[in-house]
Amino acid sequence: MAEVPLRAFVCGHPVAHSRSPLIHGHWLAEHGIAGSYERRDVAPDALPAFLRQLAAGGYVGGNVTIPHKEAAHRLVAWRDEAAEIIGAVNTLWFEDGRLCGGNTDAYGFAANLDAGAPGWGAGGIATVLGAGGAALAVVHALQERGFTDIRIVNRTLSRAEALVHRFRGGTSAHGWEAVPELLADTALLVNTTSLGMHGAPEAALDLDALPQKAIVTDIVYAPLRTPLLAAAARRGLATVDGLGMLLHQAVPGFERWFGVRPEVTDRLREIVVADLEK
Ligand code: ATR
Repeated sequence: MAEVPLRAFVCGHPVAHSRSPLIHGHWLAEHGIAGSYERRDVAPDALPAFLRQLAAGGYVGGNVTIPHKEAAHRLVAWRDEAAEIIGAVNTLWFEDGRLCGGNTDAYGFAANLDAGAPGWGAGGIATVLGAGGAALAVVHALQERGFTDIRIVNRTLSRAEALVHRFRGGTSAHGWEAVPELLADTALLVNTTSLGMHGAPEAALDLDALPQKAIVTDIVYAPLRTPLLAAAARRGLATVDGLGMLLHQAVPGFERWFGVRPEVTDRLREIVVADLEK
């Protein structure tokens, strides 16, 4: 009997920019798996119907991206702990016929640092720039790794305060004017804002106050070397770019759908970098 190809997908609106098909397509070919990973443009009002027809369409699961992550959180039958805490779902799969939702962004963030700056989780103080959905995943990851003093800095202070209220202690909210003072004892600086992204203004930060052993990471990956990371490198600080978070967050989904835990290799990184430079 011919093997039935396993189907997975990424749904978003728009979805043309998503690099997930490139990543999962690479792993499918690498492991010789008879499967597909499709790009599906789904308008917000069509999401419930799209999710309802997944099993009948032969899908084993997929990814959910902007603007569907919060809606998917509401629509699944079961959520993992990360999705529950973050309030957004980016990975879907079936278990006992039920549609389940998980969030792998916090995992991807931590795995990227594990690979790029081993020992980063040793504690200390973390300063997180931004208070949007990405910051929520980052703060959750930091708490999981034992950070007990996380300073959230945001242009709109009320959003930083709202983020603080979502967690049970260990976080504090600050405006940008506090940054020079906060940096003096920061062990890990994370940018989760869009500052530094192609076409966006830079994060105008003076990193001189950071301790010499501080690590600086950015979740922006286009460009790969953001002005923030370039400034940190000029100061001789350890830096970790954001591309690895995108690659690592894809690992748990692929494993669930196709039964093989894929690796984030230099080759995969090169393929995605080449695509970003197109
Ligand atoms: P995401 O879900 O990707 O985190 P978001 O919810 O739109 O996206 O959040 C974007 C973050 O970048 C916010 O922290 C935002 O600050 P505000 O909450 O004050 O809007 C931050 N950001 C975007 N542009 C910025 C700018 N020019 N200066 C400072 N912060 C900026």
